[in-house]
Amino acid sequence: MNAKWWQNAVIYQVYPRSYCDSDGDGIGDIPGLISKLDYIQHLGVDAIWLSPVFKSPQDDNGYDISDYQDIEPMFGSLEDMRRLFAEAGKRGIKILVDMVLNHTSDEHPWFLEAKQSRDNPKHDWYVWRDSTPDCPPNDMLSCFGGSAWQWCEECGQFYFHQYSVKQPDLNWDNPEVRQALYDMMNWWAKEGAGGFRLDVIDSIAKEPDNKVTAEGSMLHPYIREMSKSVLQGTDLVAVGECWSANPDRAKLWSNPDGSELSMVFQFEHIVLDQVGWEKWNLAPLPKVKLKEVIAKWQRELHGKGWNSLFWENHDVPRIVSRWGNDKQYREQSAKMLGIFLFGLQGTPYIFQGQELGMTNAPYELEEYRDIEIRNMAAERLAKGYTMESIMESIHAKGRDNARTPMQWNDGENAGFTTGEPWLKVNPNYVTINAEEQLDREDSVLNCYRKLIALRKSADVFFDGEYTPIWPEWEEFFAYRRSNGKETLTVIANFGEGELNVPADLFAEAGELCVSSYPDANSNVLRPYEARMYLKK
Ligand code: GLC
Repeated sequence: MNAKWWQNAVIYQVYPRSYCDSDGDGIGDIPGLISKLDYIQHLGVDAIWLSPVFKSPQDDNGYDISDYQDIEPMFGSLEDMRRLFAEAGKRGIKILVDMVLNHTSDEHPWFLEAKQSRDNPKHDWYVWRDSTPDCPPNDMLSCFGGSAWQWCEECGQFYFHQYSVKQPDLNWDNPEVRQALYDMMNWWAKEGAGGFRLDVIDSIAKEPDNKVTAEGSMLHPYIREMSKSVLQGTDLVAVGECWSANPDRAKLWSNPDGSELSMVFQFEHIVLDQVGWEKWNLAPLPKVKLKEVIAKWQRELHGKGWNSLFWENHDVPRIVSRWGNDKQYREQSAKMLGIFLFGLQGTPYIFQGQELGMTNAPYELEEYRDIEIRNMAAERLAKGYTMESIMESIHAKGRDNARTPMQWNDGENAGFTTGEPWLKVNPNYVTINAEEQLDREDSVLNCYRKLIALRKSADVFFDGEYTPIWPEWEEFFAYRRSNGKETLTVIANFGEGELNVPADLFAEAGELCVSSYPDANSNVLRPYEARMYLKK
């Protein structure tokens, strides 16, 4: 089987408002990102997933788009975006644009027209239901709290919004909507985008009357239509954010025949530290379960689909603060988590700052900016939750944990901006920053650089079949992958005790390529010690 470029790629996610600010307004921007392309190239990655920079009132930090074909001035201009494509291209880096196709901003001209009256030609581009103002059509809830229905005075109907009231859902059952979105995607491809990250794409075919959001009955037909209209016959990568994916659905989404998307971006391993889908209700970390979930996805998609490998993004906390130890063993555990992830089958993602072992942000409620955090806190306070429990949830899982400005150096505002940062810089930038790590051989950053280079050094990363090693041993996380020619062995200690590993495991392993401690030569795995071995 021949690999597609994105199957051997490593993707780096940039959350532009927090990456690098070129003009001192406290918000990162495209010129700032361009100035850091050498750093990104030095990491060795193949592509950047760029969170939305399109015109937007920023109610949800750009995931509320008011013009898909223009750039929000705080981030720069269309010319800056073209320069980004060109400058990244010179460095062999593709740019994946983040397409929010499930909803627009309520300030998008389509919605401004749609809400004017029931017989406006754009009315049917959104999802409307009749009722009286005090009685929403049903009890569906928005992911950001409150009802999923909002009354609209102008046309005297409710509109449906799975996210904030400023993010009305598009009506994908209208073929004009679908065509307009495909045309817009094709325009970006022509402009130079290397592909798309597709925001909450499993929710586009909603059926509110049946209380269905994800995986509606028309979902896969729509995706296949999009694939034909935009993706097939091109080199574009399409990454589907699918919270609802299970392996069977993922095999459709990422069918190797190319009929749908390139890969799924699913969260089953990420939500294990919470009670069901209620992210704010924290659960103890189930280590054996984490191994089972990872093994299940490795086994099920092998040869039949393609997964994204990630621990972090702009919606989830810093991994070192969840499954690692962000104090005493921060560096060891950050490296261990990277090593463990990078041996798996799929396309690895690094979220900005993960390569430094950046940590969650221990702020006061007023210091957070995220709409999801603010809505949840208000809702839970009204329901009588204690402030202490609310803050505990936010410190563990709030989205702003990952959104704090990138820590470039130990200077003012971590080198992110000369102005007032839109979200406070994590005070630990004095010790955790890129400058300190670049030339230090055993830094988290250099561990990630090695891992990225390793991914290109052997086919087994692409095609090796996964076998777990002693999965019932709680703190010991280990697996082998083999393709008949090469064998990869990864062993990791997910705990803070020492683990005595039977010597015969090493006899089979081959050459040590990377580890989370500078010396790694005994049978004892120290706290958060991980090693990757390769036998060719
Ligand atoms: C996705 C984005 C998230 C956004 C939501 C609504 O989950 O990653 O940041 O709030 O979709 O667009």
